Amino acid sequence: MIKKRLLSGIKPTGNIHLGNYFGAMKQFLTLQDQYECFLFVADYHALNQIHDPRLLQTYRDEIIKAYLSIGLNHEKIIFFRQSDISALTELTWIFNCVTPMSLLLRAHAYKDAKAKNKAVNMGLFDYPVFMAADILLVQSDIVPVGRDQKQHVEIAQVIGKKFNNLFGNTFHIPEVRFQTSTQIVPGLDGRKMSKSYHNVIALFDSEKIIRKKIMSMKTDSKRSDEPKDPEACPVFAFHRLLEHHDIQELARRYENGTISYQESKEMLVDEMISFLAPIWKKKAYWDNHPREIEQILQRGSDRVQTIAHETVLNVRKKIGISV
Ligand code: TYM
Repeated sequence: MIKKRLLSGIKPTGNIHLGNYFGAMKQFLTLQDQYECFLFVADYHALNQIHDPRLLQTYRDEIIKAYLSIGLNHEKIIFFRQSDISALTELTWIFNCVTPMSLLLRAHAYKDAKAKNKAVNMGLFDYPVFMAADILLVQSDIVPVGRDQKQHVEIAQVIGKKFNNLFGNTFHIPEVRFQTSTQIVPGLDGRKMSKSYHNVIALFDSEKIIRKKIMSMKTDSKRSDEPKDPEACPVFAFHRLLEHHDIQELARRYENGTISYQESKEMLVDEMISFLAPIWKKKAYWDNHPREIEQILQRGSDRVQTIAHETVLNVRKKIGISV
């Protein structure tokens, strides 16, 4: 039976973190056997933000190693680097020519950057079109992401439909998928976990850093024997994320005033380390096997190139550019 296709990507603009893991990557783990999976590093996307070649490479390698270390099956999943697939930049141009500028003027990332008076380059503005190329090139059926990417996937749907209307049915229109309970993973300060808020626990933070980050999380000033509201406590949110073995009992201890924030944090440090330790162990293997990683990426890129070639030929024919 032919499997449906799943595609998703991560942008190497900072250290990969628990927001990426629980918002997106955990879905890859659950869905990997049901779908033909295409997972990639969006390194060309990152270029609109990172202009330091070494940093870009460091973040990019980290994402690949994260994919390989969390329990995804690298014999079945197609892993690739966005920059290895030149058809993506070609398709981006073609999509640019059918995308109304007004659609991109409404994109959150662009509006945010503008509101914060950040310099906006064309790469940032055009980002959703490139993302549409990522999604539509392989004719994916589902795109599992965190909530913050929903609008981008919807823009890809609009672009795909627009192209189909203009030139005849060409692209499959995929659905966006997120995990309801973890669609917005909170950070150390309770806001959305994000590289740009500096509130992340990175997947590859050291034990020492994790302890320091957790123990210095801000809580209110209630004494250990005072009743506390678990829902208002960012430490509790992490217990829930890590599926604490008895979350209801823990909530009761908060409400009865039989746990201090200090104790809750100590428990969280232990939970976090036991959750991350197996991932670190696998990462240590990949740190020592760069050639094996290259082979995996080469295999992935060959497979995507084959699909890309077919799609691009069809697109060129449809738009009237000779093959
Ligand atoms: P990026 O690199 O910002 O994030 C990667 C994935 O992690 C999810 N995520 C979160 N989910 C829940 N809570 C959070 N705090 C949190 N932080 C991050 C994101 O939603 C995302 O799923 N534009 C994309 C990369 C991309 C892509 C694609 C994704 C490029 N092309 C095509 C899917 C399909 C991005 O910047 O994700």
